[in-house]
Amino acid sequence: MTKVLVATQKPFAAPAVEVIKDIIGKADFELVMLEKYEDKSNLLKAIENVNAVIIRSDKITAEVLDAAKELKVVVRAGAGFDNVDLTAATSHEVIVQNTPGQNSNAVAELVIGMMLLMARNNYNGKSGTELKGKKLGLHAYGNVGKCVSKIAKGFGMEVYAFDPFIDKSVIENDGVIAIDSIEELYSTCQYVSLHIPANEKTKKSINLNLMSMMPKNATIINTARKEVICEESLIKVLEARPDFKYVADIAPDCKAKVEELFPGRFFFTPKKSGAQTAEANINAAGAAANQIVEYFKNGKVLFQVNK
Ligand code: 3PG
Repeated sequence: MTKVLVATQKPFAAPAVEVIKDIIGKADFELVMLEKYEDKSNLLKAIENVNAVIIRSDKITAEVLDAAKELKVVVRAGAGFDNVDLTAATSHEVIVQNTPGQNSNAVAELVIGMMLLMARNNYNGKSGTELKGKKLGLHAYGNVGKCVSKIAKGFGMEVYAFDPFIDKSVIENDGVIAIDSIEELYSTCQYVSLHIPANEKTKKSINLNLMSMMPKNATIINTARKEVICEESLIKVLEARPDFKYVADIAPDCKAKVEELFPGRFFFTPKKSGAQTAEANINAAGAAANQIVEYFKNGKVLFQVNK
């Protein structure tokens, strides 16, 4: 019998777990739940004899793959897969998939919420500003960027996007202004929302040069990954520019310094919250379970991210 493990340190909302149980049950597969596990050793044990695993930001390292003797498929219920060692997975002949688009709206709503929070001075009662008429730059125009653009336009924002991997016509068809260079995006937009993955090229890529060129009253919204920001540069910019704000879905390593030195000019979620809605969990968990069924019943490989 095909054995499926759900290994989630940060568990799915209860209705999403029900969706997984239903899909895996109907396929006559066995389901093993490992939620809120405290230690890597729990994962190493649970993964030993399963054929598939559904994860969130849980780390699938070479060590985990070594322990997973029967594993064929890892499905990351979500978009980013920087938590999976793809090279090790490929050498273990394990297919890694994600579920793109399933939690994009949840992340996009968080972006808008955090922009509003900054525009209204953390709702401290002092006069703030409106989003209407302001320029928003989307650094990458994937599923989340697209969702953000739709909502931001509803607020009357002027939306720009830079994404060298997407044809400009795709961006422009959505009524978004496609920008040719990263420098132009940062120098044009008061708000910049990050939607790039974390990889060797992007880590620390949001640097002093880019942040310094942003217009007055700049805010960077980071719901991507904390690693893409160069934190030394962030501190320098916050020091040099009292008009500069930074909001992020999970705090930078320099959180304590930011809290001490720059009150009112930041907001950090206490744990990664972009995808923390019942709807996003249901969508991503359901898609992950269905992709596993498709693979074992029909040999279909969907959204593979390793080769
Ligand atoms: C993603 O990459 O899909 C998001 O960052 C969500 O991550 P999470 O499932 O750990 O909340």
